[in-house]
Amino acid sequence: MIKESWKEKGYVDEPTATDIDLKSEIRKLCKEKNAVILAHYYTDKPLQEIADFIGDSLALARKAAKTEADIIVMCGVHFMGETCKILCPDKKVLIPDANASCSLAESCPADKFREFVKAHPDHKVISYVNTTAATKTVTDVVVTSSNARQIVESFPKEQKLIFGPDRNLGRYINSVTGREMLLWDGACHVHERFSTGKILELKTQYPSAKVLAHPECKGPVVKLADVVGSTAMLLNYAVKSEAQQFIVATESGILFEMQRMAPEKQFIPVPPDDGETQGATCGCNECAYMRLNTLEKLYNTLKYEWPEVKISPEIINAARKPIDEMLNISERLGI
Ligand code: 13P
Ligand code: SF4
Repeated sequence: MIKESWKEKGYVDEPTATDIDLKSEIRKLCKEKNAVILAHYYTDKPLQEIADFIGDSLALARKAAKTEADIIVMCGVHFMGETCKILCPDKKVLIPDANASCSLAESCPADKFREFVKAHPDHKVISYVNTTAATKTVTDVVVTSSNARQIVESFPKEQKLIFGPDRNLGRYINSVTGREMLLWDGACHVHERFSTGKILELKTQYPSAKVLAHPECKGPVVKLADVVGSTAMLLNYAVKSEAQQFIVATESGILFEMQRMAPEKQFIPVPPDDGETQGATCGCNECAYMRLNTLEKLYNTLKYEWPEVKISPEIINAARKPIDEMLNISERLGI
């Protein structure tokens, strides 16, 4: 977990931004500073509403790589800010809360992963984008949930592969490709809390609903789903499908965009099975890290240009290669 506080920046506490119209002040600051706001689908609705661009991790990385803004504010989690910085080392990359980590990134410390990789020298290394910049330096090609399957399939069948850190996504890719990749034993604290029991309960209530699941969910949940895919893939399917009801097994922030894109359809979030809703009032399954992003923090970040994502040039250079490899393969395969 990254520990940064406003005290280190010389303030007693995070400055309060009350009595101002946060949304219009944020827009003003963006214009003054030539800043762009990117937000992941899992952030809160006000952030998705104010962002210049919302998307899944692949789309956000692509957007960052092409932006002409001087400042990028990444509303998401820390590794997403790092991806922006790696792709745009000359730009200032800000994140509203530097403590917004990710359970997958945390499950795969670079030193431990390096030892694992060293123990299997004949393997190529595929890492999910949900990793730290340091872990990406031990990687041959990065993938996101939008392109993981095709990128794995782009390797010759006889090539031995390591996949980290998400064991659920790794197992799913193994099952659909027939590969036997060696898997790192990591998981996401949000997606691991979905159960077949809760989904089956919802299915009896909404028998014609389609079940949508992110591949970070456990195997039995994925097996039960009508559609398995990244946040963008699930969204696309929901918008285009003739079905009218959808049971959604991924972080509930995606429901804002689903409902906005298909207002006439009904989206039912699957609650976590342990009753742990981490402060959510709707019984939804929320990512505690994503929820650290707030409108007030976004305003402060733009105003004080802090917290800033900083990565050493050596790590940027080494982590850029597997990200570029992913972007190049994806372009070549038309993903
Ligand atoms: P996507 O690549 O689908 O945006 O997923 C990112 C993520 O963190 C899922 O938990
Ligand atoms: Fe990481 Fe899971 Fe949160 Fe996605 S939902 S950012 S994988 S902790």
